[in-house]
Amino acid sequence: MFITLEGIDGSGKSTQAELLTENIRSARGEEGVIWTKEPGGWPGGDSLRKVLLEGSLHHPLTEVFLFLADRCEHVEQVILPALAAGKIVVCERYSDSTVAYQWGGRGIERGKIEGLLSWASFPSPDITFWIDLPAEKAYDRMVSRGSPRDRLESEGLSFLSRVRQGFCTLAEENPDRIVPVDGDGRADLIASEIYRKVEEYFFP
Ligand code: TYD
Repeated sequence: MFITLEGIDGSGKSTQAELLTENIRSARGEEGVIWTKEPGGWPGGDSLRKVLLEGSLHHPLTEVFLFLADRCEHVEQVILPALAAGKIVVCERYSDSTVAYQWGGRGIERGKIEGLLSWASFPSPDITFWIDLPAEKAYDRMVSRGSPRDRLESEGLSFLSRVRQGFCTLAEENPDRIVPVDGDGRADLIASEIYRKVEEYFFP
């Protein structure tokens, strides 16, 4: 069972991924679930994550290729083995982020990105929770948190708005997989809503 969580920076997706993992753990035991994230969620992935976030890349396609390379190792070393062992995988960010950020945010041709994604044949999530928050609110949260302004996050409000629009488009196109969740509320209530949907979906 492969669950992904998506959303713009500051949407609360990390908190929700953590709470979902804890909820599944309490219900199904420590061994039944793993939490992981992109970029960098595999042994050795920290170096790639660092390159992606530190802001030293100039050519727009370098970023695309590195996110995909990161996913190749993440899928091979972490996601597929966990799924093969019968575990539930909770993964923060995945291919929807590549489309929303690199197409929606950066404006790289969508067909090219989709072509690379389909060539890589990454396993598809069973269900994706898109934690949606207006870009202004997400941005304010990031500012009040004093978020370090790494390169991707320092692109500002209009970048975040375009990325959010990218997620909107993906959600409209994939209503059977992507569940939009209103991220503007109490974290514990949002977590219960997500967990309820997971139970309905996987353990009807
Ligand atoms: P994330 O780890 O969620 O940020 P943090 O934990 O530092 O708040 O993601 C890092 C950034 O990488 C985020 O801005 C989104 C971006 N990203 C892409 O642009 N494309 C991708 O395919 C992925 C997986 C992430």
